[in-house]
Amino acid sequence: MTDVRLRSRVEVERGLFMAESFEVISRALDAGAVPRSFLMSEKWIERFAPLYARFPRVPVFVGEEPLIEQLTGFHLHRGALAAMQRPVLPSAAELLEGARTVAVLEDIVDHTNVGAMFRSAAALGVDAVLVTPRCADPLYRRSIRVSMGTVFQVPWTRLEAWPHAPHPPGVPAPAAGVDLLHESGFDVLALALTDQAVPLDEVDLGPDRKVAFVLGTEGHGLQPSTLAAVDQHVIIPMAGGVDSLNVAAASAVVLWQRRAMLGAG
Ligand SMILES: C[S@@+](CC[C@H](N)C(=O)[O-])C[C@H]1O[C@@H](n2cnc3c(N)ncnc32)[C@H](O)[C@@H]1O
Repeated sequence: MTDVRLRSRVEVERGLFMAESFEVISRALDAGAVPRSFLMSEKWIERFAPLYARFPRVPVFVGEEPLIEQLTGFHLHRGALAAMQRPVLPSAAELLEGARTVAVLEDIVDHTNVGAMFRSAAALGVDAVLVTPRCADPLYRRSIRVSMGTVFQVPWTRLEAWPHAPHPPGVPAPAAGVDLLHESGFDVLALALTDQAVPLDEVDLGPDRKVAFVLGTEGHGLQPSTLAAVDQHVIIPMAGGVDSLNVAAASAVVLWQRRAMLGAG
């Protein structure tokens, strides 16, 4: 199911996600993910034995490659697939406790970008990632693969509320995500190409500040309601007549700058 709202109705108890390749499945299992089944062709049985042998009660389905391709709809060139139980996500408040650097992914549509942003977050020392209610799924097979399995390493959760996200009628709106970040002591910085944005190299990102960087969707960027709710707009100065970076590239640049200003090695 590709629709986030539909899918979230059957998660967690019936939800699953797919992990692919030895490295990714290993990372998922090491992070405590629970497998439901494995699927592979005969030539991979030995290679994956150290993984499925840890779960003697979990079935390992073995089939001819063309049949597996027909079943899954894609060529399984990385050996095996594991169907895994979706984890219960922590609350945002839990995640923010003790965190100092946070990335917020607002409505990112492309699973490749979500995966690449998690990879940067893991590599550049982000303590937690928050995804907005409409953001693409970090546990979609492609996000997991592009993240190199770092979606299992970086603590993350899906926000229940965000300035522009609709709340179901009759359900009291939980504190919008920006308020929650403020209550936890974070300065909320929007990465945005607005007139009032401060160039990244002039922004204090030192250890005295807890910062949450909000990155916007690929097409239109951040929503006006988000831009109005945050504390500061930050721009990565562009050259060469290029107006913006890909959102995953922008996340890597800003997270690197934070890391450098924290004096991290
Ligand atoms: C491809 S950009 C969206 C461009 C969109 N047309 C706009 O005006 O925001 C996707 C996201 O990457 C981030 N981004 C990309 N380039 C940036 C830059 N030079 N400065 C700050 N943020 C940037 C922003 O968060 C933006 O919402």
